[in-house]
Amino acid sequence: MKKRVTIGVIGTGHLAGAVIEGMMAAGDEFSVIMSPRSRERSTDLDARYPRCRRGRSNQEVLEVCDVAILAVPPGNYRELAKEVNWPRSLPMLSFLVGVDTGSLREAFKCQRIFRVLPFPSASLGESPTMLFPDEEPARTICSTMGEVIPVKSEEEFEKFTGVTPLAGFTYYLMESIQRWCGNNIPVEYPAKIIRSTLSLYLEQVARGQKTGTDQFATPGGLTEHAFRVLDRTGFSDITGQYLDAVKERLGSIGTERDDT
Ligand SMILES: NC(=O)c1ccc[n+]([C@@H]2O[C@H](COP(=O)([O-])OP(=O)(O)OC[C@H]3O[C@@H](n4cnc5c(N)ncnc54)[C@H](OP(=O)(O)O)[C@@H]3O)[C@@H](O)[C@H]2O)c1
Repeated sequence: MKKRVTIGVIGTGHLAGAVIEGMMAAGDEFSVIMSPRSRERSTDLDARYPRCRRGRSNQEVLEVCDVAILAVPPGNYRELAKEVNWPRSLPMLSFLVGVDTGSLREAFKCQRIFRVLPFPSASLGESPTMLFPDEEPARTICSTMGEVIPVKSEEEFEKFTGVTPLAGFTYYLMESIQRWCGNNIPVEYPAKIIRSTLSLYLEQVARGQKTGTDQFATPGGLTEHAFRVLDRTGFSDITGQYLDAVKERLGSIGTERDDT
């Protein structure tokens, strides 16, 4: 019988919690041991899944697992590195946004570090998950999260990271729509329109077809009118500003190192 792989999780917050749920639903190949921090979530996961348990300390997690996920806030990793002794050969899957492998290696002195960027949709096994480098054991673990997107370099990883807050942007948009709809229109309806439109968009991109907004804007129709209003509000510029702000912030996290 194939041995079950134990995944250690240090930092069971929103993202790692979603990843664990997806992993538990994906099959019984993995068991999980979580740091005792993130008390409420780790206790809940421990109670819900027999293959998921809450460890006694960060160090215990690192000593019993085969691969460890690091998912603490980016600003916390240096303190953590002083507190634990990361076994040199234990592979690390880092979810930390804006912290490169050089900084992590310097802090934890471990040999194999993978950068992984999943989304909370990993709970459904539907997260497009960036991975660098695209090697085992990270690939098999990431495939429980959803489609694995192999990235060629850390530079490319950082570039792609710049658009990932679009996931939050989508929720922001949905919240505005929900507020506007009130109780008059069930929010599933606009959500279904958006989902089907994005599926079509992806299909058109895959086929190399045109994706212009004009296909929805019947001359003199509703959408054309609404586009004019959006243009007047400068919505396109606002979207650009949102992404510029992410890029700027990402640049400052990325340069965060012990010597700065
Ligand atoms: N949320 C996303 O969509 C997303 C997307 C991509 C990447 N990321 C990255 O994923 C990481 C986690 O993000 P998140 O949104 O899940 O954050 P979060 O919900 O704030 O979770 C972080 C967790 O780390 C725990 N923690 C902090 N310091 C710790 C330590 N020294 N030892 C053990 N546990 C510790 C915290 O526990 P306590 O509650 O006990 O303080 C908390 O539960 C971040 O590095 C972020 O950049 C997040």
